[in-house]
Amino acid sequence: MGGAADETDQSGTKEKGNDGYEIRMKPYEGFNYPYEFTDDIAGHLRNIRDMEIKDDDVFITSYPKSGTHWIYEIVYMLLHDRSYCRQHHLLDIDNIDDINNAPSPRIIMTHIPIDRLPWQLSQGRAKVIYMTRNPKDVIVSYFCFVKRLAKTAFDGEFNYAFLEKFLYGKVPYDSWFRSVLSWERFPQTNPKVPFLTMNYEDMKSNLRQQVERVSLFLGQTIDGDTLDTITDKCSFVQTQKDKRENPDSRFNSTMSRDGPEIIYRKGEVGDWKNWFTVADNEKFDQIYKEKMSQSKLSFRFSL
Ligand code: A3P
Repeated sequence: MGGAADETDQSGTKEKGNDGYEIRMKPYEGFNYPYEFTDDIAGHLRNIRDMEIKDDDVFITSYPKSGTHWIYEIVYMLLHDRSYCRQHHLLDIDNIDDINNAPSPRIIMTHIPIDRLPWQLSQGRAKVIYMTRNPKDVIVSYFCFVKRLAKTAFDGEFNYAFLEKFLYGKVPYDSWFRSVLSWERFPQTNPKVPFLTMNYEDMKSNLRQQVERVSLFLGQTIDGDTLDTITDKCSFVQTQKDKRENPDSRFNSTMSRDGPEIIYRKGEVGDWKNWFTVADNEKFDQIYKEKMSQSKLSFRFSL
């Protein structure tokens, strides 16, 4: 990583001293938090841990770039007014007072480790939806995203060195394996918590069916027309169109160096094939096999 200076340059988008080829992050107590995280990591984590849970809260958890915003929109449409969300709540970075005061039912997304989440969550009052995606598409989406973040300001290439950082958790939000394996265990260790695992590839295969699954989990009875409407609005094309016309205020110039719409990139399964070399793929598969040997999870890498 380049120098540690925290000043921004004249464009206000890139920090001095960052050589651009390392991914900037904030390691704290064995976990790599993103560079966008507050400097008061301990204080923010304490606020999160002690946060008051409400009975109708829905937590959306994931490793970044797994389709978190996709499932967020679906849940929002089901619980609110069938329209796109204009203010997402990201527990990791948002001011805790904003989340505490958000209108109910609150939808709160997060990528932080399970043992850092509000302790009241294990009481089983709020619902938890865990979003998963095959890690090869996650890493490509991740690479494209970190290049667009103003503070992280990563200018490196997509090569095996980058893949290796991802495979061994030397990236913001740490290891994909650590995240998915801990969430795989979560329902056993937290049997009281209403818990639903969603999967990106399943949603791409049959979105209507997956929207219905979410609605049943949330206890919503919706008719076929409403199901069709939500399915249509939550397609990649429709969502991307809406978000381009109504950019998210979170992605202003201090957050993004590539315009205000940086989430909805390609929305496909199998884009990794355009990025991985044959050798990358073989090495990735080998490490994947080792690290997932005890897991019952399986992912589709193409449809
Ligand atoms: P790509 O970069 O592969 O396009 P997250 O919300 O966890 O940051 O995930 C972002 C990824 O989910 C991006 O993947 C984005 O395009 C994809 N995504 C968001 N909404 C989607 C939708 N309606 N359909 C398909 N993919 C979607």
